[in-house]
Amino acid sequence: MAKLIDGKVISAAVKERVKQGVAKLNEQGISVGLAVIIVGEDPASKVYVANKKKACEALGIVSEEYALPENTTEDELLSLIKELNAKKSINGILCQLPLPRHLDEKLIINSILPEKDVDAFHPSNVGRIMIGDYDFVPCTPAGIMEMLAYENIEVEGKTCVVIGRSNIVGKPMGMLLLHKNGTVTICHSKTRNLKDICLGADILVAAVGRPKFVTEDMVKEGAVVIDVGIHRTENGLCGDVDFENVSKKASAITPVPGGVGPMTIAMLMQNTLTAAKRQNKIG
Ligand code: GUN
Repeated sequence: MAKLIDGKVISAAVKERVKQGVAKLNEQGISVGLAVIIVGEDPASKVYVANKKKACEALGIVSEEYALPENTTEDELLSLIKELNAKKSINGILCQLPLPRHLDEKLIINSILPEKDVDAFHPSNVGRIMIGDYDFVPCTPAGIMEMLAYENIEVEGKTCVVIGRSNIVGKPMGMLLLHKNGTVTICHSKTRNLKDICLGADILVAAVGRPKFVTEDMVKEGAVVIDVGIHRTENGLCGDVDFENVSKKASAITPVPGGVGPMTIAMLMQNTLTAAKRQNKIG
């Protein structure tokens, strides 16, 4: 049976670190502020935003929530972002995705000042990740790297396979593993011989978006398996990995729920603290 990589424990450790960092800035008379924008009524987005607000409060980060109606125009949203870009007390700006269809997501993301882009979605921050000179990393891959470090799982020299090539998870995940001297393969829906490639993985990251996609016959004995997926099924929540069977083969594995999920908000808090430090020329 694999060791469970416990996202609740590791995210608590990250949040404690951030809380201390925020307190240290507060002692110097510097507050840390995060603005969260949500447009429309998507129920899942509302839950995420509420959780982000709760996390801020627990760590001493001042959160400002901007809940805008579904029919908000692009100009209205851009003008709010412009205002927040200029607002001294706001260090980080997050615009919850997905946006209603009439709003151009790319245009909105690009309008956030890169220094305040705590999601690391702006092309400037994406490019900085590519060259290995970055302040912010998208929260999910950042959380996974934190988990590997916490568990003393060495990446250098390892064969790392990422299934999924999204801009938010797969691509930055691959880059972060590469920066740690892993040998990285990024797989996707057109990949041939996926099973054989996965079987070579010492570290396997599943970010496919399909329930129980990774089965035990795709996993090498002793591999580290990281499950980014979360799916609501008739039998409760599950991930992209068939946990019950894969956990018998892996040496370490993240559960769903309680694995990667709790890490993402913790890393958002970390990025917000980093933003505040950079903007105040500390650290
Ligand atoms: N929607 C789902 N996940 C995220 C995230 O990490 N950031 C933003 N801005 N929107 C999301």
